[in-house]
Amino acid sequence: MKMKVCILAVALGLGLAHHNSHVKHGRTSIVHLFEWRWADIAQECERYLGPNGYGGVQISPPSENIVVTKPWRPWWERYQPVSHNLCSRSGTEQELRDMIARCNAVGVNIYADAVINHMCSNEGGEGKHSTCGSYFNATKEEFPSVPFTAQDFNDRNCTTRSGNIEDYQDINQVRDCRLVGLLDLAHRREYVRGKIADYMNALIDMGVAGFRVDACKHMWPEDLSAIYGRLHNLNSKWFPAGSKPFIYQEVIDLGGEPIKACEYYEMGRVTEFKYGARLGTVVRKWNGEKLSDLKSWGEDWGLMPSDKALVFVDNHDNQRGHGAGGKSILTFWEPRLYRLATAFMLAHPYGMTRVMSSYRWNRHIVKGKVSCFKWLVFTLITFCSHQ
Ligand SMILES: *[C@@H]1O[C@H](CO)[C@@H](O)[C@H](O)[C@H]1NC(C)=O
Ligand SMILES: *[C@@H]1O[C@H](CO)[C@@H](O)[C@H](O)[C@H]1NC(C)=O
Repeated sequence: MKMKVCILAVALGLGLAHHNSHVKHGRTSIVHLFEWRWADIAQECERYLGPNGYGGVQISPPSENIVVTKPWRPWWERYQPVSHNLCSRSGTEQELRDMIARCNAVGVNIYADAVINHMCSNEGGEGKHSTCGSYFNATKEEFPSVPFTAQDFNDRNCTTRSGNIEDYQDINQVRDCRLVGLLDLAHRREYVRGKIADYMNALIDMGVAGFRVDACKHMWPEDLSAIYGRLHNLNSKWFPAGSKPFIYQEVIDLGGEPIKACEYYEMGRVTEFKYGARLGTVVRKWNGEKLSDLKSWGEDWGLMPSDKALVFVDNHDNQRGHGAGGKSILTFWEPRLYRLATAFMLAHPYGMTRVMSSYRWNRHIVKGKVSCFKWLVFTLITFCSHQ
């Protein structure tokens, strides 16, 4: 029954407006420059990505976010917006604008990571500890720079005691409650839709080619559709007149939950998390599988239709053990297998491909399960072994 609903929705769709990536010169792949600064991305477009045929860059969220200082600035603070101002650790609005223009000039598109499901966590605090210094009060659900107030959040429609998502089998919870405390915007409200569309349109007018939309599983498809319907066409300085923004939606669907990736197909492409998880098991030779088994790789392996999929070996969440995929996910920590999987992905025609460019971190701390004592010992050993 569920599947039927999905197929019907796709069949009735009004064309595939947001599926064209607008990559230039027949290019086929993009790269996620996770946490890179705008000024560095501009240079990278000119000296490497353009000359080497990259179609585009997924940038980290450009909107203003909370500043977390204890114990240090974590990457995930960028997924806790407090306004739609365009200043972040990656740089100023002027640097963002300069990067978009310079990358477009060498045929490399920019896709912005749009965090529109929520604002910061209910524990985000109050005051001006934000990347542009804008005042907000998470306790009061007050974000005057947008502005959003308590009525713009979903609390009334969330039925759990904690206010958080407690059961992923309950569609209403997943979409109307808070994801790990993140204040959940009420996208059914016209006002909220309008503010989000204004934010995305500001980026479109600056010259981005589209968006990765964060946490789409946690938003109702009809609400997203209403927001996408308000988006401007791309800036005709760089794109053909009438071009609609490319949209790829983060929906983690590994099976086993009532919310399905297919509910989002007609609105844009969708992240296929099964791709990296399954490719990882083959490349690692788990289950006795061989690379030659990949000759039937694609839909036959239970992956979504190729023209709906945005694929990757790992992403910023699952390379750290967050989000979907589990132990089979290959990352730069295993360089030989990682290169092999990435080369296979780029050579194989399934889906729109995204390469990951991340940074090295101290794996032993991030896992969070290592005691201070063990960490100290590890640090001493590392230190001594370098002497
Ligand atoms: C934030 O809101 C809470 C709840 O209304 C209030 O008690 C607190 O004083 C506010 N903080 C600031 C800094 O305005
Ligand atoms: C809550 O749910 C009802 C029924 O679906 C809907 O009419 C209403 O707009 C929702 N409220 C918010 C704030 O989303």
